[in-house]
Amino acid sequence: MSKRIALVTGGTGGIGSEICRTLAQKGHTVVANYLPALQSEAEAWLERMKGEGLDVHIAAGDVSSFQSCADMVQDVEARIGPIDILVNCAGITRDKTLRKMEESQWRDVININLGSVFNVTRQVVEGMTSRGFGRIVNISSVNGQKGQFGQANYSAAKAGMHGFTMAVAQETAAKGVTVNTVSPGYTATAMTEAMPEDVRNAIVAQIPAGRMGSPEDVAFAVAMLCDEQAGYITGANLPVNGGLFTSF
Ligand code: CAA
Repeated sequence: MSKRIALVTGGTGGIGSEICRTLAQKGHTVVANYLPALQSEAEAWLERMKGEGLDVHIAAGDVSSFQSCADMVQDVEARIGPIDILVNCAGITRDKTLRKMEESQWRDVININLGSVFNVTRQVVEGMTSRGFGRIVNISSVNGQKGQFGQANYSAAKAGMHGFTMAVAQETAAKGVTVNTVSPGYTATAMTEAMPEDVRNAIVAQIPAGRMGSPEDVAFAVAMLCDEQAGYITGANLPVNGGLFTSF
């Protein structure tokens, strides 16, 4: 297997950390993006990961800002090298029913969850296509596929991510670059921990697998799509949801 350089946005978060760990365990050099305001937390994260013997780095960048992403990618490519694998994993929730949703709650979720996918991918796509290899994985959600009460903003952003995946997959397929979506279900992280307990319990009771997903479940799917051998899988959505929502 070739050693590649991977950038994971939201790489120090619940699912992002496990994606970084798994890609590093597969022998890649991994760069975890983090929000500049969270520098001390990111440095502590880096120490923990290095303590596991992993080849990891960190890169500050606000994924909702195009310029910040341009600066971040330029810095990563100068410090570490060209990015062959991009995992767009940064995301937030601002759950509210639509009749109570503030414009800022709509805008923040659209900009951070969906705008980020353009802002970061735009910086790396040229390099990947010109070198003839790339793997892009967008972390969407079961709630982008089925909609979720209280998540008009999040469901719209997550559904939009897969539209981006399908379009860019067609633009890059002839150049050795694949673009896919992974759609986790309810995964045990701080994001689902923040939900009202009764709402979370009611949703978990409907999951055919009988449990929430783990970050490892999601990271396995991401690593599979990033594999050299996955070159003919592009424009796909891979659900990792324990059967919560099934479709073609
Ligand atoms: N379906 C139908 N009705 C529902 C409902 C549902 N799923 N959930 C709540 N309701 C009802 C309530 O019973 C209540 O009814 P009454 O007014 O008759 O009492 C009413 O809706 C509550 O409406 P409000 O407008 O007052 O709701 P709210 O603005 O307080 O918001 C909420 C409630 C924040 C949306 C809360 O229900 C919630 O947190 N829901 C969970 C949303 C969710 O699944 N988030 C996922 C987070 S994790 C994640 O996003 C990761 C991932 O990818 C999976």
